[in-house]
Amino acid sequence: TDRYCVFGNPIGHSKSPAIHAAFAAATGQDLTYEARLAPVDQADGFAEAVAAFIAEGGRGANVTVPFKEDAFRLASGPGNRLTPRARLAGAVNTLVFGSDGILGDNTDGVGLVRDLTDFLGVSLAGKRILLLGAGGAARGALGPLLDAAPAHLTIANRTVARAEELAALVVASHPAAAVDACSFAALAGRQYDVVINATSASLQGEPVPLPAGLYAPGAAAYDMMYGSETPFLAQARRLGASVLADGLGMLVEQAAEAFALWRGVRPDTAAVRRLLRPA
Ligand code: ATR
Repeated sequence: TDRYCVFGNPIGHSKSPAIHAAFAAATGQDLTYEARLAPVDQADGFAEAVAAFIAEGGRGANVTVPFKEDAFRLASGPGNRLTPRARLAGAVNTLVFGSDGILGDNTDGVGLVRDLTDFLGVSLAGKRILLLGAGGAARGALGPLLDAAPAHLTIANRTVARAEELAALVVASHPAAAVDACSFAALAGRQYDVVINATSASLQGEPVPLPAGLYAPGAAAYDMMYGSETPFLAQARRLGASVLADGLGMLVEQAAEAFALWRGVRPDTAAVRRLLRPA
C-alpha cells in the first residue's frame, strides 16, 4: 500500500483525505492518504516533517497553508526538481517522492481552469479576465489562466505595486499575453467576462470594492474560497453576474491533477463533487 498525505497547519478540517480516498476507491488504486500537521514554530519544521514521511515510505504529498512556499524551496534544492508551472507560481502544492529526488508541482491553477471550462461551461479563450489579488493564490492561477488564451487579463489589487510585480513576472513565460495591473478604483468603467477572487478579503467578511457595470452580460464570478455564499459572491450577485461559483470545484480538480501525477490514472471528479456538496 503506497502512502500519501497532506501537510498543513491547521490541517484538521482538510477535505483532501476524503477526496483522495474516494479517488482511490473509484480507480482501484491501493493507497492511503492522511492529514499531517507540520510545525510552524520551528525553522525547517516543514522540511523535517517531509523527510520523516519519506522515511516512513511516503510516495507523495499535497501541501496547503502555510507551507506552499516552504515546499517550493524544498523542491528548488539540490537534487530536486520543479515543474515550470510551479516555478511560475512560486509555490508548490504537490510533491512526488522518487528515487531520483523530490519533484514539486503546482496543480491549483490548472484545477481552477478545469473547473471553469469543464464544469461551469465558462470558456476563457478570447475573454476579458479580471484577477483580484496579488498574493500566492493569484500567482498560482496566473500561468494556467494565460495558457487558456484570454483576450486580456487584468490583475487588480489593494496594493497596486504587488499587482504590477505579478504582471511583470509573466512577461518572460507568456510574452504575447495582454496583461495589465491596476487598483480597484481604476476598474470604474471597465467590463469583464470572468472575475476571479484570489484575495483573502472574504476572511474579514467584506468584499473588495468593485464598481457597478464591472460584469459584462453573461459574466462569471469565481471565488477561490469556498463555503456558503461568500461576501464576494453576494456582491457579484448584486452586480449582476450570471454564473456564481465558489472554489470547491477547484479543490476537487487540483486534487485530481495531483492524483493523476502520482498514479498515472485520472479519476472522474463528478462523484466526489456530489459527495462534498449533495444537491
Ligand atoms: P494568499 O496566499 O492567500 O494569496 P497573501 O499572499 O497574503 O495570501 O495575499 C492576500 C491577498 O488578499 C493580497 O492580494 C491582499 O492584498 P494586498 O496585497 O494589498 O495586501 C488581499 N487582501 C487581503 N485582505 C484584503 C482586504 N481586506 N481588502 C482587499 N484585499 C485584501
